[in-house]
Amino acid sequence: LMTLSEVKAVAYSSIANLGPGFDVFGIAVDFGRDILVARKAKGGIRIEIKDDGFESIPREVERNTAGLVSKRVLEDFQVSVGLELEIWKGIRPKKGLGSSSASASAAIVALNSLLDLNLSDAELVRYASLGEEASAGAPHADNVAASLLGGLTIVKSYHPLSVLRVEPPKDLVLSIVVPEIEVDTKSARSILPEVVTIKDLVHNVGHASSLVFGAVMGDIDLMGRSMEDVVVEPSRAKLIPGYNLVKRYAMEAGASGVAISGSGPSMVAIVDPRKADPGHVSRQMEKAFMEAGVEAEARVVKPAPGARVLEVE
Ligand code: HSE
Repeated sequence: LMTLSEVKAVAYSSIANLGPGFDVFGIAVDFGRDILVARKAKGGIRIEIKDDGFESIPREVERNTAGLVSKRVLEDFQVSVGLELEIWKGIRPKKGLGSSSASASAAIVALNSLLDLNLSDAELVRYASLGEEASAGAPHADNVAASLLGGLTIVKSYHPLSVLRVEPPKDLVLSIVVPEIEVDTKSARSILPEVVTIKDLVHNVGHASSLVFGAVMGDIDLMGRSMEDVVVEPSRAKLIPGYNLVKRYAMEAGASGVAISGSGPSMVAIVDPRKADPGHVSRQMEKAFMEAGVEAEARVVKPAPGARVLEVE
């Protein structure tokens, strides 16, 4: 049996919620990816972040999503090795693009192989979601499910953790705009309402169900039209200057629907290519942020595959 001493894994960015599916929906997209190398080493866990411009990401094991996941794995499986984690960040943090989740996902996929753990998909998601505690203060699993499994994912239940995967329509693209402001997931969660009315519950369940129906039927327009959320977004909209204008310009440009990407501040539109030009929609969203006084970068992205081991040495 060959023992590995080093494993490299990749995990993509992801968009959580998609409107009505707070803490439930996620979709992996190629708006950058993290690469993590896990190496057996002497004593303790050491984290190195390789790229410049990511100074705000904590290096301490317990405050880093990949570090926290690794610590739990070593404890749970009573593995007495040290680890060196080398993280090549490709996803900017605090943008609502699942940056912390991608690192956590790459970490668990790398360790699964390095330590020969044979974890199931649900176990991979559970471990990666523990990392979210480090960044969001709560172990939600929507971003990690998408980043780990790829495509569109549904967290069917948290206790016990159960995750479903839906293959997105082949020609689905998403217009994403990333403003030059940061939103901290922890604070974006602290302002949410604690109580939901029956009327709002009906609205969100109807829209969430229709979004999945649209995905399964390949109806991109229906997916987009189902992105409306009346529970979470109204409170978070105030954290994003230009929120209303971005929505308005995107809809006027022919988007089927617009929502905050995860806990924001990025925003995402689903555009049916038969109805409108996704590039035009993304440029209009960028323009809206500019008019609101916020620099922004827009891109049209495709769904991405799940996290995987890249090469084994
Ligand atoms: N569902 C989470 C939230 C995603 O909206 O807080 C955080 O990225």
